[in-house]
Amino acid sequence: MTEVGIDGVEIWTGKLKLDLAETFAPAQGEDPGKYTKGLGLNASSLPDVYEDIVTMGANASKRLMERKGLSPEDIGRIDVATESSFDQSKPVSTYVAGCLEQTFDGDFHHANKGERKFACVSGTQSLDDAYNWIRAGRNQGRKALVIATDTALYARDDPGEATQGAGAVAMLIDEDPDLVTLGDEQGFGSADETDFLKPNQQFPSVDGKRSMQVYLARMREAMIDFARNGGDTHPDNFELAPFHTPFPGMVRKAAVLGYRHCIRDTEIEDELAEEIGRQPRREAFDDHEAFLDAITEYTDKLAETTAYEEWYAKTVEPTFAISREVGNWYTGSVHLARAAGLAEALEDGRDLTGRNMLVSSYGSGAQAEIHAETIQEGWAEEIEQLNIFEQIEKRNEITFEEYESIHDVHNHDETTEMEPLTSPDGEFVFDGWGRMGERKYTYVE
Ligand code: COA
Repeated sequence: MTEVGIDGVEIWTGKLKLDLAETFAPAQGEDPGKYTKGLGLNASSLPDVYEDIVTMGANASKRLMERKGLSPEDIGRIDVATESSFDQSKPVSTYVAGCLEQTFDGDFHHANKGERKFACVSGTQSLDDAYNWIRAGRNQGRKALVIATDTALYARDDPGEATQGAGAVAMLIDEDPDLVTLGDEQGFGSADETDFLKPNQQFPSVDGKRSMQVYLARMREAMIDFARNGGDTHPDNFELAPFHTPFPGMVRKAAVLGYRHCIRDTEIEDELAEEIGRQPRREAFDDHEAFLDAITEYTDKLAETTAYEEWYAKTVEPTFAISREVGNWYTGSVHLARAAGLAEALEDGRDLTGRNMLVSSYGSGAQAEIHAETIQEGWAEEIEQLNIFEQIEKRNEITFEEYESIHDVHNHDETTEMEPLTSPDGEFVFDGWGRMGERKYTYVE
């Protein structure tokens, strides 16, 4: 059967930078270490006045289509995943297509368009939809464009404010892909949870501490489901483990629990037994509290072993290279983690062709999904073409006063007199409202 997966990826960051240690921490009266060490974040990317989920998604897509030499005729499907939508009816993908039609010959009238919603996991769900469409043979030789785009802003003084971010990841899904193929096995952990929601409001209602517990609980279910469905979870069998990364500190907690799960009943657990004992088994305890204490003690010791530290340094740490500089991009976050891990591996000269990644996605509300991906021969060439690290460097660093103003601009039901802090250059921009309340966009040379 023909393999299907991600053929190419492009990333577009919001053009403003809020430095968490230098600018945000002093204004909040917090120690910078809370952000840089505790959360693992250095900065947030924020959108300028003329940027939003459409411009960032369209700008990433334009680069991707140009680099791959594509015209609208080649694309049969445009799916946008977002938690920052501004319309209950007209999908963001129609706006993105409208933008792209300004700069490419031809149109997307033949393309099926939609918008996916399930918090941060919907980027991966859109990938799934595209994969299934192609595997079902309904694509008629065409490719799918999947765009994960968000302005991930929290209300001022919400604990989540330090984890904000804005940007888009555009992915081309195709047969015989250059970057990765997606495995068939999936694991899900899904439950009706009230940890993070946006009931018709731009800034979310969040129970931050609870959302961390829900993340870990749903990930655990997804891991069990993945193994039950035939997925291979042996830690030696995957080179990178990109996670949904609201902030690296969250993944630090999830990774050790995942590793503990994956080494159970393997030779790795046996080899570590002399140093830290074997994992406590639930059935050996009458008292649940005693079991929890024992497993916590084991996990703390596991995190200190050389075996774990080496695995984490090789498999997980590289996936933070982008997110720690840009913050949480909600639907795009796990896709940034994939790209970052591959970019770091390329930099380190690792040969990953034919090797696997274990990809763990998560969305509040809540659902986790785990699947494997196999890295393809063209991966290094694809990753080399990313310019996200240059974009990150070029961002305009803002003062706290500028941050306060720009934050409010992106609460969509407000108008603003604020002047942009940067100048657009070869990109789509938001330039006002139409007669029916629609947002208008133009391409600036
Ligand atoms: N130096 C080093 N570390 C420090 C520190 C310092 N000076 N000050 C605090 N820390 C550590 C804390 O110990 C904590 O780490 P730990 O959890 O490993 O103990 C971390 O920094 C964060 O501090 P905390 O006080 O827990 O932060 P908070 O309560 O203000 O905010 C969240 C944390 C996650 C609740 C908040 O960022 C949030 O609501 N985020 C949005 C929701 C989200 O992303 N959820 C994740 C699942 S999707």
